Amino acid sequence: MPTSASLDSAGANPLLDARDLRLPRIADPCVLVMFGITGDLAQHKLLPAIYDLANRGLLSPAFSLVGVGRRQWDDDALRDYVAKAARAGARTPWRPAIWEQLAAGMRFVPFASFEDDGAYARLTRVVEKLDHECGTAGNRAFYLSIPPGWFPAVTERIARSGLVQEAPGAWRRVVIEKPFGHDRASAQELDALVARIVRPNDVFRVDHYLGKETVQNILALRFANTMFEPLWNQRYVDHVQITMAEAIGIGTRAGYYDTIGSARDVIQNHLLQLLALTAMEEPASMSAASVRAEKEKVLDCVRLERAGVLDLDASTARGRYEAGFQGGVPVRGYLQEQGVAADSRTETYAAVRLEIANRRWAGVPFYLRTGKRLARRVTEVAVVFKRPPFLPFETAATAGIGANTIVLRIQPEEGITLRLASKVPGTQMELRDVSMDFGYGASFNEESPEAYERLILDALLGDAPLFPHQREVDLSWRILDPIIEHWAGAGAPEGYRPGSWGPPSARALLARDQRTWRRS
Ligand code: BG6
Repeated sequence: MPTSASLDSAGANPLLDARDLRLPRIADPCVLVMFGITGDLAQHKLLPAIYDLANRGLLSPAFSLVGVGRRQWDDDALRDYVAKAARAGARTPWRPAIWEQLAAGMRFVPFASFEDDGAYARLTRVVEKLDHECGTAGNRAFYLSIPPGWFPAVTERIARSGLVQEAPGAWRRVVIEKPFGHDRASAQELDALVARIVRPNDVFRVDHYLGKETVQNILALRFANTMFEPLWNQRYVDHVQITMAEAIGIGTRAGYYDTIGSARDVIQNHLLQLLALTAMEEPASMSAASVRAEKEKVLDCVRLERAGVLDLDASTARGRYEAGFQGGVPVRGYLQEQGVAADSRTETYAAVRLEIANRRWAGVPFYLRTGKRLARRVTEVAVVFKRPPFLPFETAATAGIGANTIVLRIQPEEGITLRLASKVPGTQMELRDVSMDFGYGASFNEESPEAYERLILDALLGDAPLFPHQREVDLSWRILDPIIEHWAGAGAPEGYRPGSWGPPSARALLARDQRTWRRS
């Protein structure tokens, strides 16, 4: 019997209740049906992640993967394709025994089109057969990695075929990839479609940023330490810069990208999620419901107005990369990329200035920026502090110091940097900024899993905390819709040089507030 001293205030014994965190979380036996398995995302991210999960022993031996696609493949062709994808993209070594077990559970179902009713009937038979042959216990997850235009056709037919019909003791889940609609109204329609086939708790919306270790660490840093939270508010914070810069262009993704643009592609999801995690209040617990509730509250407080005045020309910037050189190599301009419409007005760079109307953040601007073909690949959240109210040094001594900054380095070189002023060694009092660094690589031996490993595993386990809820998606579109509408009536985006940090209007956006973007 536990003594009263060993019970916590809720009457539980923390030692007995503690989960053993060393134990692996292993997914139930199940069939994962992947729509869009021949697409880029599946090839480069999802399939390598599935192999890595199998290699780490986190999938059940009864795990089966069913690929659905428009190629005339058989099961062996699918196996060859997955093997190539896994060999090229997995982070764990190739192990024939693991591969053979995984390959044994793979099936391919060719679809003439996503409207091919006969193919859904074949898919149903294949999945039911796998339940018996491989012992997948009737558990099914449907991964929809397809353009959103196909959602109505696919969800309707999945429902009609009986594939998602509930069965005692088995689960049915739907995993959907962004974009979750292209505006608030279409996101709501999409949600209604998915709600017709599974219960809300069985929908897993993937924002792969939430699967990144460094993004999960934002809450750990803020709420497992004492020394940051007292400063994390408008009394001490001057402003926050959230940057997601990429050096690559759009590659072969024009078909997707040209209808989307950078604001919908990443601000609506990744960057607003980073903002929510950075700015939210402490959740009651780390449960999905508690964390979502706090993210929703803060997203609900986001405003486009600058001190109450809405001027979207002044609080946004957008651009499009031109032809030029990047790293000494000639690169095409966006309009010359294959598949981009000649009269395209799609932006490849977007920046916005937001405020958060609550007690903690009133008056603190949050600047978000993202772009393709920028100077280098970096994603970070920089919390820039106010200058000390008084500096008891000669003016010349402090001329070289900037503002204290905490930089959460999401990627690459994952970690946290503190920028602070320090005395330069010598006979005079001269101050200069220095950095204190925490790097994942140096502090932990294990390599971080890829975001998709974590997210696929969590979806198969039915663990919701790392998946945004529909209300978060809705609130994010509420923020973005007016911006996109404003841009739609404002002509073509401004050009910027490849390898630069974006268009002049992005600099002007901060200059209006007497600030500059960080040189990451
Ligand atoms: C995706 C976007 O969500 O994120 C891409 O659609 C972008 O345009 C990608 O390139 C970047 O992901 P990461 O993990 O490399 O930062």
